[in-house]
Amino acid sequence: MKRVKLWDKEFEISYPASEIKKDIETMAAAINTDLKSEEKPLFISVLNGSFIFTADFIRLIEFPCEISFVKLASYEGTQTSGTVNQLIGLTEDIENRTVVILEDIVDTGITLGKLVESLAAHKPKAIKIATLLYKPESYKGKLKIDYIGKSIPNEFIVGYGLDYDGLGRNLADIYTLV
Ligand code: IMP
Ligand code: MG
Repeated sequence: MKRVKLWDKEFEISYPASEIKKDIETMAAAINTDLKSEEKPLFISVLNGSFIFTADFIRLIEFPCEISFVKLASYEGTQTSGTVNQLIGLTEDIENRTVVILEDIVDTGITLGKLVESLAAHKPKAIKIATLLYKPESYKGKLKIDYIGKSIPNEFIVGYGLDYDGLGRNLADIYTLV
């Protein structure tokens, strides 16, 4: 088994690039069918983790579309207690447009919930959610996830855009913490 060491931890290959490619093709085919008659959907890729998935996925989309990249920046609120999340990078007017969120991974669903809430405030026609990876055992959200590349166990993974403390995003395959 192929292994990598990142910082202090060992990871073992669990989801090879060839399988990732097949799952993305399946997801793109479904989206090509479902959204082909929509007026130029806007794909919204969530940085940093989704950059590699987005690059591979978007080249399989066969209808006219746009792509934008956003980040959820969290900061400590000065008035409120706890963290506040601000959506940064969205320059397009999404009112009345169909948007498709592209996520690398949905774990608890907290990030996704905040993102959808921020986007919904801009009154899009519809918000669809596509994620390469999904951890059903830890998902606590209420939102329906429209497109899932692969459901995985509740384990920590790296590679293909996902990191462990900054490292591992460049790995072509996905690895699981040993
Ligand atoms: P959630 O808000 O718990 O759904 O987590 C979403 C974010 O946590 C993702 O966008 C990732 O940045 C990070 N994350 C969750 N699980 C993993 C993992 O297994 N490896 C690397 N990052 C992860
Ligand atoms: Mg992410």
